[in-house]
Amino acid sequence: MGNFIFHGCDTTELAREFGTPLYVVSEDEITDRIRTVKSCFDEKYERCRTHFASKAFLTRDMLRILMDEGLGLDVVSGGELYLARRMNFPVERIAFHGNSKTVREISEGLEYGVGKFVCDSLGEISLIDEMARAHDVRANILIRVNPGVEGNTHRHMLTSGGRTKFGLSPEAVKNAMPACMKMANVSISGFHFHVGSQLMDASAHLAAVDVLLELIREARSEVGFEAWILDMGGGFGVPYTASDRPIPIEGFIGAMVKRAEEFCALNGIKRPDLIIEPGRYIVGPSGITLYTVCSVKEVPGVTLYAGVDGGYPDNPRPALYEAVYDAVVANKYGEPADRKVTIAGKCCESGDIVIRDIALPPVERGDVIAVLCTGAYNYSMANNYNKTPIPAIVAIKDGCPRISVRRQTYAELYACDPPPDSKAPSVQAV
Ligand SMILES: Cc1ncc(COP(=O)(O)O)c(C=O)c1O
Repeated sequence: MGNFIFHGCDTTELAREFGTPLYVVSEDEITDRIRTVKSCFDEKYERCRTHFASKAFLTRDMLRILMDEGLGLDVVSGGELYLARRMNFPVERIAFHGNSKTVREISEGLEYGVGKFVCDSLGEISLIDEMARAHDVRANILIRVNPGVEGNTHRHMLTSGGRTKFGLSPEAVKNAMPACMKMANVSISGFHFHVGSQLMDASAHLAAVDVLLELIREARSEVGFEAWILDMGGGFGVPYTASDRPIPIEGFIGAMVKRAEEFCALNGIKRPDLIIEPGRYIVGPSGITLYTVCSVKEVPGVTLYAGVDGGYPDNPRPALYEAVYDAVVANKYGEPADRKVTIAGKCCESGDIVIRDIALPPVERGDVIAVLCTGAYNYSMANNYNKTPIPAIVAIKDGCPRISVRRQTYAELYACDPPPDSKAPSVQAV
């Protein structure tokens, strides 16, 4: 019985000192997880490299950790690239993803000299070729392939299969290859796939690896294209609740590498360099969110609502993906959890429910709730709905907490609106 301690810090004290809602991340855990991935991939096999999918969580501190640990970086927008540039992230280790890159974003990628563009269509490849010519450079390209397999995850987290907007079918890739190979200012270095997110086992990944290896073999024999990179995406699941039981990350990675090595040996092909790009695995369990209970209301026969001071703006995942989380009452840690409670967010949306029907100790106004495993796609998806400021991030290292990202202010919520007495600028520079 007592207070919930997260990586050496009393979470009730963090809530008091830094206010709520509050994201708390453990830098030690992030580093440990990066090292686990590297030890079973980059350091275990030759020509294997891990990129972090920055969409999962991107701050200056995160970039510093990634640079210290020697990881690569995936970006999907000019904004993510901008932050990486500001931090002097090694440009050759950046891959620029996205199914709908703007001309401006491509130009920024070319100017910075990103290591690779991961392209989603033939049109995008020829646009990059044209723009690279104008910049007098040659761009490295990976083609994103839709392997057509569907993993077992929420439909909004599936990025492969019949209805996805991502990638080209293997057939379309083969048809496009001759044209791509003639383009003077792009160099196609291989293929990419990402089957989806939050997968609990390796079956979809392995099925996709099989499809991509077959494509590599056929592209070689039919159109004379030698792929020297295969990017196998991310998607390695984490346990949000006790019922989520993902296989260990070594299971995903080891099985994919083995499959690639066996196939290549059998077919007399040099195994391509391999890339993985985990996001959630590295940061998900490394973060929690602290809230204060603002209201408690019993709806007889329905549930007991505990309204908190955050919700959809700091974590839209329950609304987007029906995501389920676990939580504890931080100031009543270890007390019997004998009440079913629904933790309700504060927005004017019926769908703004943080957790439905979770067993907790009796909850009162002023209690601090810690929602667990919120390190991935929470801060990065945060928004200002209901003009709610984005919470601060406190980073813990060696048991010491410090502000990593400060809380947004009310004034910042209106910083883009011209003052009432001024003329609005007609063109806005970013
Ligand atoms: C292309 C690509 N790579 C990697 C990732 C990271 O996935 P995860 O965070 O599930 O590892 C994503 C996430 O959607 C993605 O779209």
